[in-house]
Order: sequence, then structure tokens, then C-alpha cells
Amino acid sequence: MKIEQIKELVGKMTLEEKAGLCSGDDFWHTKAVERLGIPAIMVSDGPHGLRKQDQEADHLGVNESIKAVCFPTGCGVATSFNRELIGKMGQTLGNECQAENVSVILGPAVNIKRSPLCGRNFEYYSEDSYLASEIATAHINGVQSKHVGTSIKHFMANNQETRRMSVDAIIDERALHEIYLGAFEGAVRQAKPWTVMSSYNKVNGSYVGENKELLTDILRDEWGFDGFVVSDWGAVSDRIKALQAGLDLEMPASGGMRDAQIVKAVQDGTLNENVLDTTCERILNIVYRYMENRDENAVFDLEADHEKAREVAHETIVLLKNEDDILPLKKDANIAFIGKYAQKPRYQGGGSSHINSKKVTSALDAIKQAGITNITFAKGFDDQVDVVDEVLEAEAIEAATKADVAVVFAGLPDAFESEGFDREHMRMPECQNHLIDEILNVQPNTVVVLHNGSPVEMPWVNEVKGIVEAYLGGEAVGGAVVDILFGDVNPSAKLAETFPYQLEDNPSYLSGFGSGDSVNYAESIFVGYRYYDKKNMPVMFPFGFGLSYTTFDYSNLKVDKKELSDQETLTVSVDITNTGKVTGKEIVELYVADKESTVIRPLKELKGFEKVLLQPGETKTVTMTLDWRAFAYYEPKMKDWNVETGEFEILIGKSSEEIVLTETVVVKGTKKMPVTYTVNTTFGDLPTMPQAMEIIEPILTAYNQSQITSDDENSSASEAITAEMNAAMEKFMPLRAVISFSDGKITPDQIEEAVNKLNKL
Ligand code: BGC
Repeated sequence: MKIEQIKELVGKMTLEEKAGLCSGDDFWHTKAVERLGIPAIMVSDGPHGLRKQDQEADHLGVNESIKAVCFPTGCGVATSFNRELIGKMGQTLGNECQAENVSVILGPAVNIKRSPLCGRNFEYYSEDSYLASEIATAHINGVQSKHVGTSIKHFMANNQETRRMSVDAIIDERALHEIYLGAFEGAVRQAKPWTVMSSYNKVNGSYVGENKELLTDILRDEWGFDGFVVSDWGAVSDRIKALQAGLDLEMPASGGMRDAQIVKAVQDGTLNENVLDTTCERILNIVYRYMENRDENAVFDLEADHEKAREVAHETIVLLKNEDDILPLKKDANIAFIGKYAQKPRYQGGGSSHINSKKVTSALDAIKQAGITNITFAKGFDDQVDVVDEVLEAEAIEAATKADVAVVFAGLPDAFESEGFDREHMRMPECQNHLIDEILNVQPNTVVVLHNGSPVEMPWVNEVKGIVEAYLGGEAVGGAVVDILFGDVNPSAKLAETFPYQLEDNPSYLSGFGSGDSVNYAESIFVGYRYYDKKNMPVMFPFGFGLSYTTFDYSNLKVDKKELSDQETLTVSVDITNTGKVTGKEIVELYVADKESTVIRPLKELKGFEKVLLQPGETKTVTMTLDWRAFAYYEPKMKDWNVETGEFEILIGKSSEEIVLTETVVVKGTKKMPVTYTVNTTFGDLPTMPQAMEIIEPILTAYNQSQITSDDENSSASEAITAEMNAAMEKFMPLRAVISFSDGKITPDQIEEAVNKLNKL
């Protein structure tokens, strides 16, 4: 429907009908207005499968939803670094929604992994805003290509579950823009999600749902968002303030109470009716965008989509360690599969994203299907309680002793990570660590497969020969793990987050999840690898790290210009060769490092990546293009992004720690920093042009004359303060301080006059 027609329709609605449209009819539907033929539409969770609730509704995954397919959760999806694959997963989800008449699938969830302990990290993508935004773009484009909407969430700074409905995240401007808004910005600009979900929490003192700067000035005016903003379920505090800030649809239903508040606010003049009209237009725009593009013939093929989930899982499983090439395993070897998760994989997290899977493939199912027979199984541990079960452990030790190789399927139980609460520590259950130690005592050829939604400490990391990070890899994860263990699929995923050795190493550790209702993001922009890099701190597995069964060689790094302005783009190309014996995919990472900067910046930041498929011996050229934003930081003084003129390094890496090729370019920034001089401006911050020096000269001379200096290098004066020390001190001396240090020669009026002249230059 054209915007003129929508406006006309809104013009026909009564005040009550308009107010009613601004909240749900129930848990999942918008309201219909039968009198005018306006239909209701249904939304459902997301993000990694369809949680459509036909009957009893809830937002915590308690009540049954329809049988559906669970794809790998966000933590794994991002490790694929594969835009095309995630686009296809999005298309499949979009098609499932069409088949089930769901207009918007709630997701993707892109919040930054500030702490490894956040309970919802399994749903989130990364500690890096560029990667999160690129993966989200692929997901949104995929779903929306099927004329089904997405709801990028939770906008914004919902980086913890502790007090998620009331906590106030105190974030400085640079971190806000570079890290936390950064995860949303690229996706909103590039993929234009139909809806955005505003989060529960506050940011810098106000609820996000009542924050006009975030919901309107940035989201709509700067980034061009043209859909509707929906509240997270139950996130609305003050309905009128929320409407004025730009929060359109309140979910779920409010029993008519909030609708009545809106009517009253319009009647008593608190709320301008135009605001309400615009809100209705935005909601109807999406209602009709969906209704007019219904695909009545779409079919939800659970079997076919299960296989697609397996294909996605292949690229989300990260091979972290492979000593002595213990993997891939030989299909005729004597192998012991140990651990509950070999039989019953943990493949998704708890809460609103919980999918009612029709079919789940475990590793044990998968070896049966593949006809691999020499495998014994021992459960090893129970994950309901963290207690060593001596009988289960003894069985496991026996199986491991008799085998050539032991594969332990370990990880985090459901009770450890879920929506609604955060983890208390980064350890695995003690009973599982104990089991791994016991197995290692009898079997040096031990591989650990991990099922977890975010990093764990690994006290046995140096002892085991192989580590396979399967994350929460969706309902087909067992099949995908077996494909990787036996080499039918070559692992090609890389970590989208750092695995520190211990929780205490993480940058958010000191301020944690805050005290009371306030959390201070004191680490600022130094989140994830930006922090570990700068601190030169060893980590267990760095961001961007992942192994393959083949090897890759990088060569021939080229840039299309050595000098450019921030109005131009830079094209970077590099050759990648598969130097091993098997076909494989390599993720090529491009980082940018600002070498000459007056502001504090991370050592390097991810600004490009590509995934490339190579046959043995094959070489391909990978090309990536950088625009000015790849070189920019957010400048609070300008309220804008800024490129500082100077040298930048283009770094090509196999991981954030392993940079293999480097080029240097000079980028010229063309934006002007607004400066105002005051009596408190320091000498070091004054402009260096001759006219400025002329203005300042009398003040500087008076100051220098008053300083005790001596030509005699043995005098006590020159020992106390040398000419160099004096110059260094002068750099940080405010102009007005000269009044005190010039023996009365310089007056306040003279300083004021000089400042006025400087501001006129
Ligand atoms: C979650 C959202 C979810 C919504 C609807 C909320 O509790 O935070 O991610 O989409 O419920 O289930």
C-alpha cells in the first residue's frame, strides 16, 4: 500500500482505534480494525528457528510452540563468517514464516558480548561490532527476501541479564557509538530491517524505550530506519514518553490500559495527535507490506530444513586444537564416545528462543547413520547436578582405556546459561573437568567436543590433543560434529569472541554487571580483542582463530592506492592458496590500525572479511573494499565520525593474533574539528600557524622570563628544572596560569583579548 493510501486510512480511524493499534491484541498479534478491513498480523520468536505459539503464549519458552527446526544459535552463526550461508539460513526461516503465516520473526539478536558471563551470549553474535553487524545484515536480507520482516534486537546495550529490566548502562560516547550502536548501525543501514526491538534496560539515565535520541535521532534520522519500533515484551514504562521518543508498538497486549492512557493524553493535550498518526502509519506500512506479499504456497519442510541446519552447523563448529593431527579420526579406529552430550546434545539455550524441535540428531545417531561401528559409548556424567557419579565415571574410564581414542562430549548444562540470568563463573561443572582428567590419566589420545554458548575455562587445555568447539549448534549438531570428527567436512569456522584463560582477564571483570541498578562500562571501547591486544595479554584462543585440516598460504597483498582522502575508497586484494591435501574454506580477516592518532584507539579493528573455498593447490584472489568509516573513530566533540590524517596499516590476518601481511597507506581526513579556545586552553593545544604565534608571543615571553633557568648546567636551578622540563610543563600550562607566573606582567584582560583573537582566526 502506498504511503498516501496509508495516511488516508489512518485519517479514517477513530482516536480509540489509533491508540489500540499501538499495542498487541494478545501475546503475538497486532490488533485488527475490522470496520476498516485492517488485518492483524502475527509475530514470533526467533532468531534461530520459528517459535510459533498456537495455544498458550509466553515469552520465556515455557509453553509449547509448533514443531519446528532449530538452526545453530547466534554464537555459532557468527563463527561461520559466511554471509552467503547465513543469508540462505535467513531465506529458509523466511519461508517457514510464510508457511506458518508469521509476519515478523523476532531477531537477529546482535548485542555485544561484553562479558563471557552474559546469559544470552549464546543468542548473540560477537564481541566485535563490525562482525555482528555484517552477520545480522546477511540474516535480515535472507529472511526479508521472502517478504517476512525481522526485528533486530535488543536495541540497545542489553548486554547482561542481571536486572535487565531496570539496569542503567552507563556508557561513554565513543563506546556507545563505536561498540554498542555499532553492532546495529551497519545492519540497519544496509539491510533495512522491518522492525527494531527496543530493549528493557536504561542507557545513561533513561529507558531506551523513552530515549528520543536513540529511537528517532540516531535510528531514523541518521541511519534511515523506516519500519516500526516494537518494545521488548513488557519493556514499556511510560507509554506516552515512549510514543514521543519513537517506540511504536507495545508488546504484548496491555489489556486496553495503555490504549486508554494514549486516548486521554491526546484529549488533554499531553500528546500531539500527529505523533499517534505517524506511529499508526509506521505500523500499517509493515502490516500491508506483509499482507500484500503473502506466499500462500510456501511449505514448511521439516526434514529438508533439518538438513539445512546441518549444513549451517558444519560452518559454525570451530576446531580449536589438533595436536599430532589427532583429527580427523579414522573410521575403522577403536573409539570411545564419552559424555552425556554424545547421546543428548545440548544444542540450544533456554528462554524465548527455545525451539520445539521435531528431530534432533545426536553424535551417536549420526555414527549409526554413517555406518561407523567401532564406537563404544559411556555417559560419563549427568548434567542435572554437579557431582561426580563414580559408576558413570568408572564406565567411562574403562571405555577410554580400551579405545585408541577417547572423544569426550562436554559443555555447559541448561541450568548454567539461559535468558533471564547470567552465569556466575566461567568454569564448566567440576564433575566434567574431573571426568576429563580421569580420562587423560588412561588415554593420551583424548579429544574434547564442547557444547556451550560462550567461553569456558579449560584447565585441561594443554593435556588434551583435540578441542572441537561445537557451540549450541542447533538440532542437527550431532551429525555436523561427526562429519567434522571423521573428516567428511573440513572445519572452517573461526571464533567470533576471545576465549580468555580465566574470567579475571576479561575487560568487564572489575565493573562486572554493576551494583544495584547501575552498571558502568568502565572498559569503554576496549571490549574483547581490543582490550587483550592493547594489554598485550595472552589469551587461550584469540578472536578470529580456528583451525582447518588443510593449510593456507597468504601472498601478494595489494592496495589500489597508497594515499587517499576520506572521500575515497580503498581496494585491498590478497592471494590465498590451499597448500594442503584437502579442500577447505579459509576466512581472511582484514584489520585496520591507526598509526598516528591523537586519540586513544585500539591497536587494530576488524574492518573486512571474506570466506573462500579452495581445492588443494588452488589460489584465489580475495578483494575487499574499505570506505572512510574503516579509518574513523567517533569524535564526541564533533558528534560525528572522524578520520585523522595520517598513516594507517592494512593488516591481513589468519586470526587477530596472527597477522601475516601488512601494507601502509596514508589517509587524509577532510572534516574540520570545531575548536573554541578559552582561557583554560593549554599552550600545547594552541594552533601552530604564525598568526596564532604572534597573538600568543607576549604571553609566552612573559611566562618564560619568569622561569628560573640557568646556563650553568651545574647550578641547582638547572638541576631542578632543565629547559626541556620547562618546555614539557609549558605544553600543559593553561593560558590563564601565566597570570600567576609572570610577575604581574600579564593581566586577565590580556589573556581574554588573546583568546578572542584566536577564536577569530
Ligand atoms: C525477549 C525477546 C523476545 C520476547 C518475545 C523477551 O523476553 O527478551 O528476545 O523476542 O521476549 O518472546
